[in-house]
Amino acid sequence: MSSEFQRHRRLRKTDSMRAMLRETFLRKEDLIYPLFIVEGTGVKQEVSSMPGVFHYSLDLLKAEMDEIVGLGLQSVIVFGVPAHKDDKGTSAYEKDGVVQQGISFIKKHYPQLTIIADTCLCQYTDHGHCGVIQDGNVLNDESLELLAKTAVSQARAGADIIAPSNMMDGFVAAIRGGLDEAGFVDTPIMSYAVKYASAFYGPFRDAAQSTPQFGDRKTYQMDPSNRLEAIREAQSDYEEGADFLMVKPALAYLDILRELKDRFPLPLVAYNVSGEYSMIKAASQNGWIDEKAVVLEKLIGMKRAGADLIITYFSKDAAKWIDEDKQ
Ligand code: PBG
Repeated sequence: MSSEFQRHRRLRKTDSMRAMLRETFLRKEDLIYPLFIVEGTGVKQEVSSMPGVFHYSLDLLKAEMDEIVGLGLQSVIVFGVPAHKDDKGTSAYEKDGVVQQGISFIKKHYPQLTIIADTCLCQYTDHGHCGVIQDGNVLNDESLELLAKTAVSQARAGADIIAPSNMMDGFVAAIRGGLDEAGFVDTPIMSYAVKYASAFYGPFRDAAQSTPQFGDRKTYQMDPSNRLEAIREAQSDYEEGADFLMVKPALAYLDILRELKDRFPLPLVAYNVSGEYSMIKAASQNGWIDEKAVVLEKLIGMKRAGADLIITYFSKDAAKWIDEDKQ
């Protein structure tokens, strides 16, 4: 009785051997931390459905930024929560809009950091949709112009990467054209190429005050049942010149991450969204799960599925845990 079966356990015998044979790694450089910036002064307000995630006004952003940089994180993605909303999302592309101010502030004080700007209209429109509305429909081509304008204003403010999350058709081409024309030929586009109409965005919509005031986003965000459609979406963004592809949400879509990784030679980003964060927070606050172990396991799962980078509200915690585990 000896060689009728494989002895896989031979390679798992010691810590040292397990470390030598580890295939996937999570690095601080892989993590992107989302920031919510609001207007006004003296605001540091916790998002009730996202414990540990705060809204900051500009004057209080410094302490948060010092922590982020101190932990060794390399990148933030910035969301603005404006005081003024209208039907065209004007405050998304104002020179002194909340996000533009936030970006310039970070750029000035933390020039070593990579600043990603989320390019969408839903936080800025009074109807909460990601484009221009006419007779209850979200117009595609009319929205593209505003999105390109938004991207250019974010690049002018100092954004290093433009991340359009609106899911209009042709947004990569339109934004690329706008950026190039304005002289930002070297500003990359991180396309939310595959974005599902997901219930996991619930807590974010509280945080960004961007719940649609009528209907839903199913005419532009994707049906969770679809895989081929994800490939088509990614293909067109690839052809239009996207520099990164993103899949969002992450956990229920790990198969899509793998699919895109195998098909497209571009850096791939997973967005570990708000609902995925809040569930783990709630369970760990109840003492039902080991937060650190669960978070590190799911982040490594996203990397193993093919993600090169992960946008996650757990970035600061994960950076601390990565340091802890090194000691
Ligand atoms: C804006 C946008 C959304 C998220 C990021 N950018 C929400 C949406 O489409 O409603 C979700 C992020 C999260 O849930 O963490 N279009």
